[in-house]
Amino acid sequence: MERQGRLDRNRMEKENSVIEAIELTKTFGNITAVNHVSFTVRKREFFGFLGPNGAGKTTTIRMLIGLLIPDSGVVLIDGIDIRKNPIKAKMKMGVIPEMGNIYVDLTAKQNIILSGRFYGFPKKLLEKKADELLAQFGLYERKNDLVKNFSRGMKQRVNIASAIIHDPEILFLDEPTSGLDVQSQRLIKTIINQMNEKGTTIFLTTHNIEEANQLCTRIAIIHKGEIAVIDSPEKLRSTFDTTQSVEMSFDKTFDDKLVEENDLVNRAEKMGDKWKLYTNNPDRLVKHLTKYAEEHGLTIISLEICRPSLEDAFVKFTKP
Ligand SMILES: Nc1ncnc2c1ncn2[C@@H]1O[C@H](COP(=O)(O)OP(=O)(O)OP(=O)(O)O)[C@@H](O)[C@H]1O
Ligand SMILES: [Mg+2]
Repeated sequence: MERQGRLDRNRMEKENSVIEAIELTKTFGNITAVNHVSFTVRKREFFGFLGPNGAGKTTTIRMLIGLLIPDSGVVLIDGIDIRKNPIKAKMKMGVIPEMGNIYVDLTAKQNIILSGRFYGFPKKLLEKKADELLAQFGLYERKNDLVKNFSRGMKQRVNIASAIIHDPEILFLDEPTSGLDVQSQRLIKTIINQMNEKGTTIFLTTHNIEEANQLCTRIAIIHKGEIAVIDSPEKLRSTFDTTQSVEMSFDKTFDDKLVEENDLVNRAEKMGDKWKLYTNNPDRLVKHLTKYAEEHGLTIISLEICRPSLEDAFVKFTKP
C-alpha cells in the first residue's frame, strides 16, 4: 500500500516535471565541479539554485541547457533528452547566461530581432513583439542605439528581452541581477515574476539568499558540487525555528532572574546593553517582558523578534 503510494507519487512527479537532472557529474582536471546532482523541477515552479561562489551553479546550468556535456548523467527537458534531441529541447527554453550573450555592435532592437529569427519566431510578428519587449524593459527610447554604449543594467535587459522573444516554457537565469543597481534589479525581478505567474517555469541560480527567499517557491542549496538540501524557503527556515530569538533592552538594570531563570528562555546572551534571548515562543516571551517592564516601572529601549533567516539555513547546510 505504502509502496504503491510512493510509486504513484514518483509517477506524478515525473509527469509534472519539466526539468529533470539525473546523477549529473562534471569534473575539470582534478576538480569535481558537480558531483552526482539529481533534482526535478515541476511545471510552473520558480526554482532557486542557491550556493556560494564556486559551488557548481554555472556548471550545472550549462549542462541543463546543453552547453556542456556531463561526464555522466542525463538531463531531460520536458521529457526530452537534451543530448539526443538538443534542438527540440532548446526551443522550449530561454537562457540568460552568467556573462550575457548579446552583440555589442548591434542595436538593442537588432539583438532582439536576431534572437527571434534564431528561434524561428514568425517574421511578420517580430517587429511588433520586439517593440513590446523594448517598452516593457524601459528601453524603447534607446532601441536604435548600439548596445556597446549601454550601461551594464541596460545590457542585461537586452539580454533578457532577447532570451524571451519566443515565449519559452522554461527560463534559465544564471545570477541575472548580480552587479546591477536596485532599479534594474527590481525591474528584472518583476518581469521574471510576471512570466512565472503566466506559466513559465523559472530556474534561477543565485548566491543572494534574500533574492531566492523573495522569489522562489523551492530552493536547492548546492555546496561543493553536491546538493545539500531541497525545500521551500519557509521549510528551510522552520528547520531552524529553535534559533528564534528576542532582542531586548530596558533603560534600567533588572533582576537577572527575568532572563536567566525564565522557562520561556532556552539560552540568554548579553550583548552590550542588550540581551539576546533564544526561545521557542517569541510571542509569549515578548508579552511576558512587556508585562514585567510595566510592573517594574522600566522603559523598553528596544524589543525585537528575530526569526531565523534563510542565511542561517545556508550557513548550516554549507558548513565546510
Ligand atoms: N571550464 C572550467 N575549467 C576548469 N575549472 C572549471 C571550469 N568551469 C568551472 N570550473 C570549476 O568548477 C567549480 C565550480 O564552478 P562554477 O562556475 O560552476 O561555480 P558557481 O557556483 O557558478 O560559482 P559563482 O557563484 O562564482 O558563479 C569551480 O571550482 C571552478 O573553478
Ligand atoms: Mg556561476
